[in-house]
Amino acid sequence: MDNSAQVYKKNIDLLKVKPNLTEYENTYKNFSWDNVRNELEWFPDGKINIAYNAVDRHLNSPRKDKIALYWEGDNAEKKQYTFADIARLSNQFGNFLKSRGVARGDRVFIFLPRIPYLYISFIGILKIGAIAGTLFSAFQEQALFDRLENSGAKVLITDKELAVRIQNVREKLPNLKEVVIVDDENFDNTIQSQSTDLAMEHMDQNDYAFMLYTSGTTGKPKGVVHRHYALLSEHLTAKYILDIHEEDIYWCTADPGWVTGIAYEILGSWSNGATEVVYSGRFSSEKWYQILADYKVTVWYTAPTAVRMLMASGDELVKKYDLSHLRHILSVGEPLNPEAIRWGLKVYGLAFHDTWWQTETGAMMLVNFPCNDIKLGSMGKPFLGITAEIVDDSGNGLGAKTEGHIAFKPGWPSMMQTIWQRQEKYDSYFVNGWYISGDRGWKDEDGYFWFIGRSDDVIKTSGERVGPFEVESALVEHPAVIEAGVIGKPDELRGEIIKAFVVLRPEFAQKVKDQAYAETLKQELAQHVKKHLAGHAYPREIEFIDKLPKTRSGKIMRRILKAKELGQPIGDTSTLEEY
Ligand code: PRX
Repeated sequence: MDNSAQVYKKNIDLLKVKPNLTEYENTYKNFSWDNVRNELEWFPDGKINIAYNAVDRHLNSPRKDKIALYWEGDNAEKKQYTFADIARLSNQFGNFLKSRGVARGDRVFIFLPRIPYLYISFIGILKIGAIAGTLFSAFQEQALFDRLENSGAKVLITDKELAVRIQNVREKLPNLKEVVIVDDENFDNTIQSQSTDLAMEHMDQNDYAFMLYTSGTTGKPKGVVHRHYALLSEHLTAKYILDIHEEDIYWCTADPGWVTGIAYEILGSWSNGATEVVYSGRFSSEKWYQILADYKVTVWYTAPTAVRMLMASGDELVKKYDLSHLRHILSVGEPLNPEAIRWGLKVYGLAFHDTWWQTETGAMMLVNFPCNDIKLGSMGKPFLGITAEIVDDSGNGLGAKTEGHIAFKPGWPSMMQTIWQRQEKYDSYFVNGWYISGDRGWKDEDGYFWFIGRSDDVIKTSGERVGPFEVESALVEHPAVIEAGVIGKPDELRGEIIKAFVVLRPEFAQKVKDQAYAETLKQELAQHVKKHLAGHAYPREIEFIDKLPKTRSGKIMRRILKAKELGQPIGDTSTLEEY
């Protein structure tokens, strides 16, 4: 708990653009969610719809013809859509879904790369009161099956290339009535032939709007469900933390397969009327700088792994591009190291503003406000209307400078409403009146929060959340494997990489004594996970071992694997079966 952090002082008079929030402490003290309800538009009957607020409400203002989306694909293919375009196309998409029998409350999942139909269909689903889910485009058969089965999804929206991955499991998904292929020859016509008028569903603020599967330590991924009222959190954080202004060009580099892409590439950003850029192609530092320069991006929300990759490509490269329009830069998803902030200041003349939040919290929680000083390495302070605390295992507040669980007082608009069909899992998040995040940290005397690590075995690799259980399950499907234990291993570039400890069947254990064979088998196992689970969730390191450390009840002790890997003390082993 080092208190000697370097401080980046803010003087808001020197900022190019005056922030939407110029004072934190008093605003925080006097804030109440009830007083800001009218930041959203409510229907005269007191009901709401997220999609109306994100898109259609702008049709009554000059924003109607403002660009909502600049889209660029892998081959420099470009498209652009106004808010009126998105409103019209999502109406047509909604009508199409209705014609296929989709009704309020049905789950409709989108499994697409970042193409325009992803954004259009997401809004269309919300308009008709169905529950929208997204699936990251790196998912393979097993990951898709688990999510579609648990959610009982009725329709899957995908493209020709990705649809192949669902073929083998489709007949095991009796609820899945239809797979919609958006690049089928006639699909554009099918959408164009729909009515552009749609009677938008009026929803209760607590009605479910969208869901996202995310990983914990144990069991299959869980379906985190958010309500329509969640938009209030997303809207206000986009306004005050992303600091969206009317003239901004905003680029969020996340994928809507994850929560950041939903909350800040569709919902909160559009509800503030932001013009945003979506680049669906692969990462390269050159390409990213070109996007920043070509679109004259002013506000940029990205992730620490990306920043480290940009750092690795050096200072000289930055100078080749005109990045003079950038005025506000932010990061999320993993710890943002002070070096990255210092580097940002050096090459962009701007400090990355770290934000902390989770799929479950639905919006930013601990944040660096544009008007507040930044303590390098800290996640900042609680957002307006958020009561944050460090608590012990029983949910007792610990005060400053003590390590514990990062916890929040329940009740903010975007707090998850349930875990789909696993109420006991949902309930387990709450202890003594606190929502327990699963992260450990501490706060300093000035109320800044600092990250220490996860309190469970969840892995963060390149900012993406991976559950060890899913990877272990995929590994044991391979004929050579008896069992596997999977951990996150610290990695300079990716934050963590996935490392698997694998116990082989005796005949394979014999064969891997030959080094060359061992290498081949490792590659095969990594490929196996890539092919069956997900392209991003495979082990980059594999070690063969004779036995996994386990509790007497047979639970794999990943904590011990990790301590051994890192050469750290192993700690209490009294509950171990043998060791
Ligand atoms: O461990 C924390 C880490 O990411 C987890 C949440 O992951 P996910 O639900 O995928 O949402 C990510 C994007 C909102 C957290 O429990 N995390 C997120 N932001 C930070 C972070 N760790 C350190 N610093 C952050 N700023």
